[in-house]
Amino acid sequence: MYYPDELVEEIRAANDIVDIVSGYVRLQKKGAGYFGLCPFHNEKSPSFSVSPTKQMFYCFGCGAGGNVYTFLMNYENYSFQEAVKSLADKAGISLPEAEYSAEAKKEADRKSLLLAINKEAARYFYYQLRHPRGRTGLAYLQKRGLTDEIMHRFGLGYADKTGGDLTNYLKSKGYRDKEIIDAGLASADEKHGIHNKFWNRVMFPISDVNHRVIGFGGRVMGEGNPKYLNSPETSVFDKSRNLYGLNFARTARKNHLILCEGYMDVIALHQAGFPQAVASLGTAFTSGQAGLVRRYASQVLLAYDSDDAGVNAALRALDILRQTDLTGKVIDLHPFKDPDELIRQEGAEEFQRRIDGAENGFLFEIRMLERQFSLEDPEERTRFHREIAARMCRFEEAAQRENYIQTIAHKYAIGFENLRSLVNGHAMKTGLTQPLQPVTRTGMNRGGRQKAEDAGRKAQRLMLTYLAEEPGLYEKLRPWLSPEDFTEEFCRKVADQLFRDLSRGKMSPADIISLFREEEEQRAAAELFNTKLAEAETKQEREKAVHDVLVTVKQNSLAYYTARLGSETSALNQVISGKKALEELKKTHISLW
Ligand code: UTP
Ligand code: MN
Repeated sequence: MYYPDELVEEIRAANDIVDIVSGYVRLQKKGAGYFGLCPFHNEKSPSFSVSPTKQMFYCFGCGAGGNVYTFLMNYENYSFQEAVKSLADKAGISLPEAEYSAEAKKEADRKSLLLAINKEAARYFYYQLRHPRGRTGLAYLQKRGLTDEIMHRFGLGYADKTGGDLTNYLKSKGYRDKEIIDAGLASADEKHGIHNKFWNRVMFPISDVNHRVIGFGGRVMGEGNPKYLNSPETSVFDKSRNLYGLNFARTARKNHLILCEGYMDVIALHQAGFPQAVASLGTAFTSGQAGLVRRYASQVLLAYDSDDAGVNAALRALDILRQTDLTGKVIDLHPFKDPDELIRQEGAEEFQRRIDGAENGFLFEIRMLERQFSLEDPEERTRFHREIAARMCRFEEAAQRENYIQTIAHKYAIGFENLRSLVNGHAMKTGLTQPLQPVTRTGMNRGGRQKAEDAGRKAQRLMLTYLAEEPGLYEKLRPWLSPEDFTEEFCRKVADQLFRDLSRGKMSPADIISLFREEEEQRAAAELFNTKLAEAETKQEREKAVHDVLVTVKQNSLAYYTARLGSETSALNQVISGKKALEELKKTHISLW
């Protein structure tokens, strides 16, 4: 749904950012603003700021920032539309009915229909488990050590032995056969007609991050095949882009998540006080899931089964984590099969110790590799060392590579220089990475130009921050400066709006942020308004600082349009006026305050 800008702004203005953020973060007033511990990264002293005047938040630690929409998008994982909707509800502002295209409307309706059926089914299973009919199910789960409380939290349920009760129930709620089949809850054949997919199983509803039931896993009570039956993929159930337990784990706010293999592991861990546990959905860990994880944590601790299949799955998961720039570690569960078993036998404290002792992912990989070689044989030992060297070339950063060489050379008694030259040899041969002594870059010209461009970029950002902090500057600078001077596409878009607002004497950085609908862009826009300004004590110093930034912006813009003289018709005007402005700026003192 596309909401008009004015409405988006009306809703934003009706929700004070300090109020909204206070619902999630403890804020303390300090000067003109509020400070608290950043909810988006782990920190001990507050660098998360909320400004009532700018109606923005910004974290000086991790760079998270934006307006009230950005905050909800980050914190609640809402889309922009969802954030608008939730704040409109809060402020009692009604939103126009969606004007979907026919096709989009059909798909949206279809999805909400499937979600509604799933929710109804989950509710049905839930009551069955607590009904006398469900007593075998309840006894089974209790035998496995689950408390009523955790069963409630995860919405566990029970599917009865009879073949048609759920479908009858859903039909009584007005759903049609085809819809129930599409949701994966029933199937039909000519002989039996429509019948439940799940029967005689304990049921694990699977939720997305917004706590909406998107599918089910059903376990036989005891031995049986298949042990777990899962909902098929539907338009709301994408197994490669959801994780079991993430709806709770995402607010655990640890810097890591624990990734397990099984539903039961996740539940047992949450019950034992590890709400940061998640599991994939009966399939291997995917890069889509890694992307999801990255929104909430920077590190993943693998708690996979300790058998061979578990080790192989862990190695594949480590690979995916690395490609996603997540740090992977491996929790040793021996002699227990899985986290559930370990907790049951040894308790939560032992599991915490295993977390603390989790092994570095790369060292785990090498240790598993070692098993494939018989190291008494010199030939095999050499091959092992070569293989280590080859894998080390993955580390692009020399310092990191050196550190690993040190640790591994020591651990496997290889000899630091030997291993180092193997790594170097491999790097040269394959060109996979820079050799350990990086050659100094030639071409100072390129470097020089790069520096000027960086300075130009920085100055554009500083200028936007100055204007946002002191709208009064606009009148003084306008004769020298126009939105066209902002040559970076992103700054330009912001400048266009900022100048328009300032000329009307009504400026709101938080509103400008809403121009962008993606979280990343909002964050970048917030950064523009929060560039760290030089500490200037006196009026003269501040005037000089602004003057310098103005000159740099103009120089950058002149260079930019000069380079486009042949290709853009408006470039010539810009160059002429830019040159003139720079010359005048040299001899003019702009009195700002
Ligand atoms: P496990 O066999 O390790 O199951 O499979 P578990 O979760 O530890 O269950 P318990 O403790 O035996 O009750 C791990 C995961 O693999 C998927 C499920 O997601 C399960 O949680 N799986 C397993 C299936 O989808 N189908 C199966 O038949 C078996
Ligand atoms: Mn298990």
